[in-house]
Amino acid sequence: MADFYPLTVQNIKQLTPTSVAITFEIPKELKQVFAFVPGQYITLRKEIKGKELRRAYSISSSPKRDYMTIGVKRVDKGGFSEFANTKLKEGDVLEVMPPEGRFLFKRSDEPKNIAAFAAGSGITPIMSIIKAVLASNHNNKFVLVYGNRSNKETMFYKELVKLQLEYANRFFIYFTNSKTPEEGSLFGRIDTSTVNYALKNKHKDIAFDAFYLCGPEDMIHLVSNTLQENGIEKEKIYFELFTTSETIAETAPIASDGKTQLTVILDDEEFSLTMGKNDIVLDTVLKENIDAPYSCQGGVCSTCIARITEGKAEMVKNQILTDGEIQEGFILTCQAKPLTPTLKVDYDDV
Ligand code: FES
Repeated sequence: MADFYPLTVQNIKQLTPTSVAITFEIPKELKQVFAFVPGQYITLRKEIKGKELRRAYSISSSPKRDYMTIGVKRVDKGGFSEFANTKLKEGDVLEVMPPEGRFLFKRSDEPKNIAAFAAGSGITPIMSIIKAVLASNHNNKFVLVYGNRSNKETMFYKELVKLQLEYANRFFIYFTNSKTPEEGSLFGRIDTSTVNYALKNKHKDIAFDAFYLCGPEDMIHLVSNTLQENGIEKEKIYFELFTTSETIAETAPIASDGKTQLTVILDDEEFSLTMGKNDIVLDTVLKENIDAPYSCQGGVCSTCIARITEGKAEMVKNQILTDGEIQEGFILTCQAKPLTPTLKVDYDDV
């Protein structure tokens, strides 16, 4: 079951003309439920104009605080991000699902050197990771390359500059602006030369343990390819897609003829449904008012994950699950179309 908890908005801060930081108060009795690892996100549920909307937002605050902050950039008209930027007030209560996600920084006693590449609102989970890395060991170093149009449109700009001053010898930022050249910032988009400048020129003496990439798909591919061309192992590169430039492929998988009998296990209950070969598993489940977990419905988070225990399905889009996980039967149900006359998916076995 997708559990939501009411959380009170403690503070709203304007970050840029089109984005806000929203801080939730975490009551004592929910501290455990909302404990998180830097890099994770929460899902908010809100009814707007009679329609239930769910949106996932990464947590930008440190896990050590007794509050939780997210950054919300206005991207949609009439959607949740517009509501959050124009109507939401301090003291309002929102329904929030506990933190989840696989883009994680795990604390370690060993010193760690981390590099991150973020663009736009992709900075949000990186903020939390930066704070955790810098606070967990006084030898840790962090290099951040952060792309935006201008400093004015840079989310968490002031907070980042403050952190840079606080950790002057361990935290290095390269603001990269594409609109106008600005003092102290690189000009252009994050590209191969920016990656090489930061890592091979400015910080060639640092041996990096991990690389975190967050932003649009094009940037992630470019940075990931450049890192690998420079000999970085794929296992050291973690990424989180924030927006996708890819149009969801409409190609139907080699589906079974006619209908598929779908069996769903959720919270130890079994449901029997019928779906068409071009239907999506999650859509079919939600239509029956079964309370399956989901958030982005775009194959970008992993809230809707389940395991196939009988039959086969194919994902329209998958940017998260590894080949090994797919072999183990994991599937993003928001992207899954059936390939066999019977299909059994288990939300409990993940
Ligand atoms: S709901 Fe986000 S990947 Fe399926």
